[in-house]
Amino acid sequence: MVLDPSQSAHTIRADTVIRNIGQLVTVAQEPLPGASGPLQVIDHALVSISQGRITWIGREGEEEPQFQSATTEEDIAIIDAEGAVITPGFVDSHTHLVFAGDRAQEFHLRRAGTSYGELLARGQGILTTMNATRSADEETLLGLAQERLRSLSGHGTTTVEIKTGYGLNPESEEQCLHIINKLNATDTNTLPALNEVRVVPTFLGAHSVPPEYRERREAYVELVIEEMLPRFVGLARFCDVFCEREAFTLDESQRILTRAKELGYLLKLHADQLSPSGGSRLAAELGAVSADHLDHASDEDLEAMREAGVVATLLPGCSYTLRSPYPTARRFLDHGLHVALATDFNPGTSYCENMQMILDLAMSSMGMSLEEALTAATINGARALALQDEIGSIEVGKQCELALWSIQDYHEIGYHFGTNLVRTTLVKR
Ligand code: NIG
Ligand code: FE
Repeated sequence: MVLDPSQSAHTIRADTVIRNIGQLVTVAQEPLPGASGPLQVIDHALVSISQGRITWIGREGEEEPQFQSATTEEDIAIIDAEGAVITPGFVDSHTHLVFAGDRAQEFHLRRAGTSYGELLARGQGILTTMNATRSADEETLLGLAQERLRSLSGHGTTTVEIKTGYGLNPESEEQCLHIINKLNATDTNTLPALNEVRVVPTFLGAHSVPPEYRERREAYVELVIEEMLPRFVGLARFCDVFCEREAFTLDESQRILTRAKELGYLLKLHADQLSPSGGSRLAAELGAVSADHLDHASDEDLEAMREAGVVATLLPGCSYTLRSPYPTARRFLDHGLHVALATDFNPGTSYCENMQMILDLAMSSMGMSLEEALTAATINGARALALQDEIGSIEVGKQCELALWSIQDYHEIGYHFGTNLVRTTLVKR
């Protein structure tokens, strides 16, 4: 929390001041003056911002400092929140958002009894989407991704991680990475309509073995390690692997992620989703930032993750879609793990852009309290992206990425369900 040293005790640098906030749910990690409860909530609050960073938080009225713009000519923009509840914007730390086509037919086949694993083994599932993605041109893929990003943002998400994994050859994976980077309006100004969403790119070339390598999977693993990983340095912040019976073995996952780490990628892992694959233990051994899914992780696995500081990312959209048992969040929380919630937006197991729905499922089916779920969807999502010093809570020094809600009290979240309660996001860069 670095304050500008040129500021006196009573003047605070600001180019924007948000007034008339009914309830500011800060999710602050340090106690805040005037705030109460586990989420450090301030009633009748005010937030000031300078150059995209929060400079002051507190109650509106007598305690307010003097706000001063950087130059005397510059006016301070006043935003009237009209009594809204404001929370940090959602940090959706796990999505597969760049793809073409859909899998509605397969969804209904699964409803009728065919399993997700069976479809994958038959060359459908992820490979159905791979075919559609490989056949689509860049403009189409970008357009689809933009539309989905708008929907995510409309439901309150301000930062989203996006994985590749439907190209599964060097050219198509690279194209998807370029699209993901184009979507990141914090790096380019080419998409002004979308500058409210920060995008974090992840390379997931090891999502499935493509059909042309079915009889020589070792050659595909080599292609990922020797060609794709070095080629995509700088295009992706994270490398992820689908470590699973139907996808990549523990040994293959370890080789891919070890090379990725050497090349400077941060690590994630799809771990223990459909079976106990050993993925979460591997995540701990390699110091991954997060291990995701974890439906079949044992207590020993969770202990290893806690010791290594790996964030546990739970994805209830998958349990909902696959009609598999929901992981019990309490187990993870009781092990002292940081638990994050994410949509896992993808055309197979969780076709959902809406983080509010994910919170609702976490509260209704995973035993999380509202406070735990909101923490998991904001600051712990930021932890799952190693961005907890930048985003995920409303604290002085952090980036201004907020969600404005059309409710009177944050306790309405989860209670009033099936409708979009977010009025808009408010992001300052
Ligand atoms: O997170 N499990 C692997 N990957 C995705 C599903 C991708 C797909 O089915 O297209 C997941 O569930
Ligand atoms: Fe996933």
